[in-house]
Amino acid sequence: MKDKLIIFDTTLRDGEQSPGASMTRDEKVRIARALERMKVDVIEAGFPAASQGDFEAVQAVADAIKDSTVCGLARALDKDIDRAGDALKGANSSRIHTFIATSPIHMQKKLNMQPDQVIEYAVRAVKRARQYTDNVEFSPEDAGRSEEDFLCRILEAVIDAGATTLNIPDTVGYSMPQQFGATIANLIKRIPNSDKAIFSVHCHNDLGLAVANSLSAVMNGARQVECTINGLGERAGNASLEEVVMAVRTRQDFFTCDTGLDAREIVTCSKLVSSITGFPVQPNKAIVGANAFAHESGIHQDGVLKNRETYEIMRAEDVGWTTNRMVLGKHSGRNAFKTRMAELGVDFAGEADLNDAFFRFKQLADKKHDIFDEDLQALISEQGFEA
Ligand code: KIV
Ligand code: ZN
Repeated sequence: MKDKLIIFDTTLRDGEQSPGASMTRDEKVRIARALERMKVDVIEAGFPAASQGDFEAVQAVADAIKDSTVCGLARALDKDIDRAGDALKGANSSRIHTFIATSPIHMQKKLNMQPDQVIEYAVRAVKRARQYTDNVEFSPEDAGRSEEDFLCRILEAVIDAGATTLNIPDTVGYSMPQQFGATIANLIKRIPNSDKAIFSVHCHNDLGLAVANSLSAVMNGARQVECTINGLGERAGNASLEEVVMAVRTRQDFFTCDTGLDAREIVTCSKLVSSITGFPVQPNKAIVGANAFAHESGIHQDGVLKNRETYEIMRAEDVGWTTNRMVLGKHSGRNAFKTRMAELGVDFAGEADLNDAFFRFKQLADKKHDIFDEDLQALISEQGFEA
């Protein structure tokens, strides 16, 4: 029996911190419902102390969601924790996520605090959060640039104070996969009470390594991944949920855990987040990009028509697309052309007719970027066939 890998979605919190991606209360509820349908374990709905609007949004998500745990973010300050606790009152299952920075640069330049003082704040925050819920997550912000010895000290202390999830954020996306994985393994090994909490990771994508770092952490004992739909998030974004989930599922040979997600909801969720935020999904984005399951070259199309597994490592249908797609263009081959024509109802009388039509299709494809079904139909009627 494999371990459960918990999926913590922070599209509504860190995703919303993407410049220009802010969402209304009702939009957050719509996205939260889509995440719940996908069986996301934890939905971080917002940062209740940030504004009255975000408080109300977290409250509305907490009231609407029944199956997923709803989480609110709070700095390690009494007033933030009380706001989060109040906003989450209506939830079936709630979590408070509190954080404080632990890297030398953040402690000295941002917080102006001594390390011992940071530990005091963290412990106090976790204890206060426990007054609202027994599900408390603690994050040492900028853990990717924090000293391992200090991380061990603060994490041991917050577990004793009642934290049930320890989230290790690579806040500025600075880590390398092997190094980040080793940090997770070391923390689990070195912290004496580490078996009392679940280790989580939260990776940013500044060097394009958020998913790789998350997967490396999972291979080294992390059992929660924090991620967002379409990889939305601060600066270059967070680890993308769809990539993490499908990498773990597709390469089960590398993992001793799996998520409980219904991946068939991924594309719907991706489209919803894109339309609400106005952030388009790049066509070549893994899993959810329009071209993720599209084939244009003749060699690939011929292979896929013979057996999909020649060029597909996942089924488009398993992540919510209706099907894979053959795109007809100048690289396409005769087999794909003939197949599409048959789908349009054209049955060539013989090889000579097919060759003639294929030749004229190639001439057109050299001139035209996108070949639509209407173009194919026009080509056929010029030749005297009717679809
Ligand atoms: O990136 C980060 O460090 C965060 C924390 C609040 C977990 O978003
Ligand atoms: Zn973050």
